[in-house]
Order: sequence, then C-alpha cells, then structure tokens
Amino acid sequence: MAKSKSPWKKSKYCDTYSLDFENLPDMAKLLEEKSGDALEIRKFTVDEKEANRCRMLSTISQSMRGYYDFKAGTYVKLQRKGDNSSDGVIMSNTPMEIRTNSHYMHMANGHVLQAGLGIGMTAMILQSKPTVKSITVVEISKEVIGLVGKQLSLNGKINIFNADIFEWMPEHGKLYDTIYFDIWDTISSDNWEEMKKLRRKFAKRLNRSNPDSYIGCWESASCNPRNPLWRGW
Ligand SMILES: C[S@@+](CC[C@H](N)C(=O)[O-])C[C@H]1O[C@@H](n2cnc3c(N)ncnc32)[C@H](O)[C@@H]1O
Repeated sequence: MAKSKSPWKKSKYCDTYSLDFENLPDMAKLLEEKSGDALEIRKFTVDEKEANRCRMLSTISQSMRGYYDFKAGTYVKLQRKGDNSSDGVIMSNTPMEIRTNSHYMHMANGHVLQAGLGIGMTAMILQSKPTVKSITVVEISKEVIGLVGKQLSLNGKINIFNADIFEWMPEHGKLYDTIYFDIWDTISSDNWEEMKKLRRKFAKRLNRSNPDSYIGCWESASCNPRNPLWRGW
C-alpha cells in the first residue's frame, strides 16, 4: 500500500511545522457510513456546479471568509440520526471545519488535551505532527467513540476518555502544552459562557514554562459578544 504523505511541512528556519492542506487525510475515505442509536456517519457529495456556487458565495461574502471554498467531491459528516438538515450536523470534513480548526492544529505541540472527538479529524491530523507527543481526547459520547474511534488507525499518541469535559479531571499534577475545547456544533455567542468556564477550569493545567503553550476554544473570537467584528452568529 502506498504510504500517505505527511500533512506537515517543516519550516526551513525553525522547529515549526505548517499544515499542507493538499495532503490532509481524506476522512471520507477513512470512515465508513455507520449508524448508532442516536447518531450516524453519512457521506455526501458536492458536484462541480454546487462547488462553484459555494466558491462564488465565499468570495463575495466577507463574513464567510472562505468557509465555503468547496472542491467537488465526497465528504463525511457525523450527524443526529435521520436529520439531514444542517442543524443535524455535529462535525464534517468540509473546508469550514478544516479552516476553523487550523489555528489550533498549527499551535499544537507537546502533550495535547482536546475535548471533543467528532469525526476524529483533528486527532488524525495531529497524530502525525512531529512536535506533538501525546493527545488526550475527552469525548462525552460513547456512541461517537464507537462509531468513529474504532474505525480510525489512531496511533500510540492518542488516548481517548469517555467523559464530560466539565466533570473530567486530569491526573494529579498533569500539565498540558496545548489545551483545546471543541465541543460545540455551531458558532454562537451562546457558547461564550461555557468557553470561559472551561478556560478557567483548565488554566492551571497549562504548562506555562513552555513558551509555545496554547489554550483555546473552537472559533472563540467569533463567539465573543464583545468582539467588534462579531457577526451575530
Ligand atoms: C464538533 S465535534 C469535535 C470535532 C473534532 N475536533 C474533529 O476533528 O472531528 C464536537 C464533539 O464534542 C463532543 N462533546 C460535546 N459536549 C461534550 C462535553 N461536555 N465533553 C466532552 N465532549 C463533548 C461531541 O459528542 C462531539 O463529538
């Protein structure tokens, strides 16, 4: 079997890596369609005409910031069972999801704590990043772990805990170089209070002796009601 290319490119000048968007693992090939009691993995296709329409929208609308810069092809999503509307989607491998998680993936280094497994996309990408030593994923849904975690070739860096991140505590004294919360389905100012709560809860678990340490939440700037660029999601 041909070895897949790494999505990480090393900088010529320092010990950092950048994401090569052309070589991301194709989640739609890695995941089979599967149903659980309340959730399911489904594939969907975007044809050339739809991709062009999305690209046009993405170009003309400032607020969409390239979110819909689709290429025609097959995509995969985790959704509430039987709900094919956009409200049913929990996670997908669309350009919007890749784009909105890319800052985290670029910043991630050392020992990583990530809340939310979803389709396993960020975990799959980060497990091949040379500067990432371990990835602890805390996922509330047993069903997600069964549907997704069992299908992916997750390497020895990854450890998945089935728990609610608001309740879960790391082992005594454990520090992380990277902490990231990605537990929300939609970008909304309603997420802001939870984001603050989680950042407060885990602030002491960040390894501040590492100058590259990072703590963040998915799309937090867009969810902060005080952000002057807030677009009213
Ligand atoms: C948007 S997805 C995460 C996407 C993931 N980063 C990926 O790359 O596929 C959100 C995930 O968070 C999980 N989740 C929601 N609330 C949670 C909580 N309180 N604690 C842990 N996981 C939670 C959901 O079950 C879902 O799998």
